[in-house]
Parts: sequence; C-alpha cells; structure tokens
Amino acid sequence: MPLEAQEGPQPVPDSLSTQAIAAGLTTTFLGRNLLYRPATDSTNDDARWLALRGAPAGMVVIADHQTRGRGRLDRRWHAPSGSSLLLSVILRPALEPRQVQQVTMICGLALVEALAAQVGLEVGLKWPNDLVVAGAKVAGILAEVGASGECLDYVVAGMGLNVNLDPEQLPGSLLTPATSLSRLVGHQVPRLPLLQALLAALERRYVALEGGHSPHSEWSARLVTVGRRVQVRGPGPFLEGVAIGVDDDGALLVRLADGSLERIIAGDVLLQ
Ligand code: BTN
Repeated sequence: MPLEAQEGPQPVPDSLSTQAIAAGLTTTFLGRNLLYRPATDSTNDDARWLALRGAPAGMVVIADHQTRGRGRLDRRWHAPSGSSLLLSVILRPALEPRQVQQVTMICGLALVEALAAQVGLEVGLKWPNDLVVAGAKVAGILAEVGASGECLDYVVAGMGLNVNLDPEQLPGSLLTPATSLSRLVGHQVPRLPLLQALLAALERRYVALEGGHSPHSEWSARLVTVGRRVQVRGPGPFLEGVAIGVDDDGALLVRLADGSLERIIAGDVLLQ
C-alpha cells in the first residue's frame, strides 16, 4: 500500500455532478430532471426562472456555491463552497396559495427522515421552516410560490443543509446559532447519499400530498416550538406568549398573557 494511503484522514468522496446524482437515484420523477451548477446566484432564482418557462414538477436545481443565497424575510443564506446541500425543487401541487406551508412541511419531514436514515441524527423542526438540534440550526427551507388568483402555478422549495461546515465560518450575527452535520457527528458526512435519500423521501411525501394525505399531524408532532414560551419578532408587532399549536394551514397559535390568541403567519420565533 503506498505510504500516503496509510496516513491522515481519508477524504470523503463528495463530488456532486449530474451523473453521480443520477447514478444512485431511486426516485421516479423527482430529480430525474436535474440541473447541477458548480456556482450560481441562488438555486431558488434559477428554479423560478425554469418554473416560469414550464419546467416540470420534480425538476431540481443544485449548486456547490451560491453568491446570493437567500433565506426567509430577505436574509442572506451563507454557505462556504462545497460545504452544504443547496437545492431547489420545482413542485406543482394541487393546493391553494394559503396552503403552501404544506410544502414546507413535507420538505422538513423529508429532511428529518433522510438525516435519521443516513446520519443517525434525531432532528427537530422549529416553526416555521428550520431544522434544529439542541437549539442550533442545521437546515432551513424557503418555499416561494407562483400563483394566479386562487391557483398555485408552482412552488420552488429551496433547502439549505449545513453538511460539512464549521459554524465559525458563518457570520456572527445570525439570529439562531448555526451548527452542521459534521459538527454534530464529529466527522465529515458525504453529501451524495444524503441528497439521494432526501429526494426519495420528498418524492414519497409529495405523492402522498397529491393523493390527499395531509402532513400536518406528523409535522406538528415534530415541532419543538409547540408548548414553549416564545417571543415573536416581525413583520407584525412584537409578541410574547405560549405557542399552543399550529392551525391547518401551518400558522402558529400563540396564547398571550391576557388570554387572547394570536395567529402568526410569518416572523421569527425565539424559544425562551
Ligand atoms: C431560511 O432558513 O431562511 C431558509 C434558507 C433557505 C436556503 C436555501 S439554499 C438553496 C436555496 N436557494 C436559495 O437562495 N435559498 C434556498
């Protein structure tokens, strides 16, 4: 055996490419139409451009690097090149625009499922779109819709998963502290099998959603937010109370000190 093969940690075989992703894919349609870009502005922007030009449901855009990765509430999504899974899936569910949170629900549950199966990690969901472990964020989901009136034309479901990154490489100003899979398990995690497991789990859940199965009860059971004292910040008024549950459309229900109930559809929730 050559000397260099005996020394030092072995690199994780981790290159993404259209061929490598397709080779191990078990899905029927999700990811079968795939655009891999070494670098792009934002996979969500690419996917929206494609969706507006008729790209089919199930098409995936994935990148190693984003120069303008976007998060919720007009924030930036930061990820050093090659450190993460950064992808956007075009879906065309038979939902009304107000029900779009159901797409975030199936993405969150598919991520949870893939992480349990591939990495052995138990991950919680934090309302409305975060995946967390011990209070630190490991992934986020950004679902953006194209609609005409009451008809949803497409949903771009963007997912950013911190795989092999050092949280110290991220800006210090993040609202929720960040973590990554490698930080949590203590070794590098190959992205390819994780991506393939994620796409398989998401396809199953999307087919079930299209068949009329609501992900609501499974999603709400996974929410670490429910039952906790919370602070809600922007875009509406600042609120404090107890998160008592989520309604059918995924809005957070918060009981305030005066006994009234607030329905929150957007904002940042801090767990106290
Ligand atoms: C959030 O937690 O605020 C959502 C983050 C979503 C980030 C992903 S990375 C891939 C896709 N492309 C983007 O520009 N954003 C999403």
